[in-house]
Amino acid sequence: MKIAILAGDGIGPEIMGEARKVMNALDLPDCTIMEGDVGGAGYKKHGHPLPPETLDMAKAADAVLFGAVGDPDCDNLERHLRPEQAILGLRQALGLFANLRPATMFPGLEDLSALRPEVARAIDLLIVRELNGDVYFGEKAIRTLEDGRRQGYDFMSYAEDEVRRIAHAGFRAAQTRKKRLTSVDKANVLETSQLWRDVVIEVARDYPDVELSHMYVDNAAMQLVRDPGQFDVIVTGNLFGDILSDQASMCVGSIGLLASASLGEERTEWGTKGLYEPIHGSAPDIAGQGKANPMATILSLAMMLRHSFGREADAARVEKAVARVLEQGIKGADLGGSAGTAEIGDAVLASL
Ligand code: NAI
Ligand code: MG
Repeated sequence: MKIAILAGDGIGPEIMGEARKVMNALDLPDCTIMEGDVGGAGYKKHGHPLPPETLDMAKAADAVLFGAVGDPDCDNLERHLRPEQAILGLRQALGLFANLRPATMFPGLEDLSALRPEVARAIDLLIVRELNGDVYFGEKAIRTLEDGRRQGYDFMSYAEDEVRRIAHAGFRAAQTRKKRLTSVDKANVLETSQLWRDVVIEVARDYPDVELSHMYVDNAAMQLVRDPGQFDVIVTGNLFGDILSDQASMCVGSIGLLASASLGEERTEWGTKGLYEPIHGSAPDIAGQGKANPMATILSLAMMLRHSFGREADAARVEKAVARVLEQGIKGADLGGSAGTAEIGDAVLASL
């Protein structure tokens, strides 16, 4: 098992240190760990946020565990040298098109949700967002019309194969959960969405055990705050998924708890190649102070064990260990507690 660890900048190295402790405690067999510089750390050491040696390492690995990037020292650099380019470059180079973001309520944290506790308690959903297509990647420009008015435009499109592969990812995810898939689109207005819906219905024939439903995106936004407990897996395009996944994550509570996976089509000896990272950034305001909550990174490690290495039992153990630490009331600053980074990591280890 080849794992590339890219800690990044800001709180990245601190939270990754705790994830490494958990990884070591799991005693993974035949595990080769490579470490590379990325983001601000890549720029400062090698002059680029995604140095060639880091990219080669990520390509050679079965999975990448990513910390966070966003060093404010790099704020005034040209766009292609900014830390955030590293994550975009990795997604592209590794062909990662499916972004999985679980949002699950941990017992005892209902009060931190933006929703009423009794509504928040039922949240246990997974958003599967397409990452490589949609309006973000179509032809775009600001042009001047003949009458002198400026017009901005962005071309939205999805090819059927792009929809098919993300639909398969959604159905497969649903098969491992409660077997309910909600496809979110805007088929009442957009042709792109009409094709999306048609293709999702075609793909559904391969998954007779999964119950498929369709929802317009505006309704989905409403339902996510009205009754999030109704959802199991949501599959949607890049733009809608960007918005809905941020919304869903805040229904759960703290940013320091939320993990993500980005998967492609490449299969390794063990599972699907992927990149795993907490959804938060590099938190420059608390970097270097030992205050950051490492749980999102530890939970990203669990997702890596599940999707890239087929080690469901280890993944579940790690997730349970984190839940138990929260139940014990050990909480980081992001949850209104006072436990530091290492203290939380050690508590997870003890619980494991
Ligand atoms: P952020 O997520 O870094 O921080 C937002 C707030 O949450 C801050 O107050 C921070 O202290 C807190 N926070 C974040 N993670 C935490 C943790 N694990 N434990 C405790 N508190 C935590 O978002 P922000 O401030 O908007 O961005 C900072 C930099 O990170 C920017 O350069 C941004 O572009 C970058 N960024 C990078 C991402 C990535 O690496 N994938 C994702 C999001 C932002
Ligand atoms: Mg977003």
